[in-house]
Amino acid sequence: MTMPLETERLILRDWQPEDLEAFHAICTDPSVMQFVGDGEPWARERTEQFVGRACEMSQAVGFCQWPVIYKPSSTVIGFCGFVPANDGGEIGWRLAQEYWGRGLATEAARAVLELGFETLGFQRIIATVQSPNRASIRVVEKLGLKPESRFHRNGRELIVFSITNQRADAG
Ligand SMILES: CC(C)(COP(=O)(O)OP(=O)(O)OC[C@H]1O[C@@H](n2cnc3c(N)ncnc32)[C@H](O)[C@@H]1OP(=O)(O)O)[C@@H](O)C(=O)NCCC(=O)NCCS
Repeated sequence: MTMPLETERLILRDWQPEDLEAFHAICTDPSVMQFVGDGEPWARERTEQFVGRACEMSQAVGFCQWPVIYKPSSTVIGFCGFVPANDGGEIGWRLAQEYWGRGLATEAARAVLELGFETLGFQRIIATVQSPNRASIRVVEKLGLKPESRFHRNGRELIVFSITNQRADAG
């Protein structure tokens, strides 16, 4: 049982049907979506597909990109979590713009990273970030991931960052 995961200000838990409205509002904000995929806000079907796949993944492998709930308001303010990657998981995050700049992504991601290594048994965690996305790169750096490689997709440069499970290395 990996969820719920609680931090000082946040709860991460499995998706519930009523999360969709709040999450879709985030995915239609052009500022939020600027460095996600092709940079276009999502249509309703795309958001539904994302949540549907997350639910399936959670059932199949025990993790996904979980909704992030802001405890003071019990509001869904974004997601943080994993998709499968070689030897572990790829971590990702997305928050509603009004919650940026308060350390919330770092708070969620630190807890998720620890869960990945300690509970899910990942050997390695990666993050893939579009190179102009300074806020996301800063979060990645604060978590201790290091740049590993670069590649291009849809005319955009992406940087792959990684961190290995130090405990496993030591053992
Ligand atoms: C990336 C994102 C999740 C960060 O959320 P957040 O809660 O504001 O992040 P935090 O407050 O934990 O940390 C952000 C850090 O980036 C820094 N930062 C923010 N904007 C920056 C910019 N334009 N240039 C440089 N640093 C910046 C902040 O100062 C902070 O660093 P600090 O703690 O050293 O001061 C949020 O901006 C977001 O949802 N963006 C849109 C979706 C997205 O791009 N997702 C990631 C795809 S890879």
